[in-house]
Amino acid sequence: MGAELKENIKAACGQFNPVFGDTKSNINKICCMTEEARSDLIVFPELASSGYEFKDRNELKSLALDFNSGAEIKRLKQTAKETNTYIVVGLAEKDRDKLYNSAILLMPDGKTHTYRKNHLFDREKALFDRGDKPFSVVETPIGRIGLMICFDWIFPEAARLLSLGGAQIICHPSNLVLSFCQRAMFARSVENGVFTITCNRIGTESRTDRALTFTGGSQILGNRGETLAQAGTDTEEIISAEIKPVLADEKMITMNNHILNDRRTELYGRLL
Ligand code: ACM
Repeated sequence: MGAELKENIKAACGQFNPVFGDTKSNINKICCMTEEARSDLIVFPELASSGYEFKDRNELKSLALDFNSGAEIKRLKQTAKETNTYIVVGLAEKDRDKLYNSAILLMPDGKTHTYRKNHLFDREKALFDRGDKPFSVVETPIGRIGLMICFDWIFPEAARLLSLGGAQIICHPSNLVLSFCQRAMFARSVENGVFTITCNRIGTESRTDRALTFTGGSQILGNRGETLAQAGTDTEEIISAEIKPVLADEKMITMNNHILNDRRTELYGRLL
């Protein structure tokens, strides 16, 4: 028998400052924050077990995780099961000779779903392989969940495809350095009528010839763009909100406008 459907859920973000290269302590932090949040769903930042600024592909390879084996994924799966929480976390993924900037959804029943970042940002292009999976949606007892990662936000197609695929909640692990995303996600929520959960990291990494400061400000937005919870710009914290995912199925924005069905796709040929 499947798990019971839940109409109202507690969604959370675990905003923190991953320590570069310290996989053990970062995974430990993710598990502890999950236990502390006592939520149905929790989202963590992009590349949360490794840190962001790899010096080269060899260094990335040494910190990337094999999702089919390894103690780290096992520990995360165990935490999802023990706390009955759906956990979304961004991780560097190793799959044979490929290296992906991935997000994994770990479910309490032991199942997982992986998304590999399709729009790589800046120097990530020299480190990671591009994602090779479509934007797909997972049906769960706490709602239909879609995943995108950080810079995917600037391509409205990502959130749109997830929404057309039925997503009610878009989980968005991030390592944001530009200042626009949090405001732009307001539009992603409104134009698609979905809940969005952007979990960003905090802190600064100075591992190469540049220093990167991450902007925090993790947020949970409602299906009409309401800010339901927002974190500070440099504080480690858990934020949470009660949400009703089924509200995202209401796509009428006026009595006469359905935000998906009113699209004039016959005029959009140039998009392709
Ligand atoms: C980003 O995609 N990490 C900005």
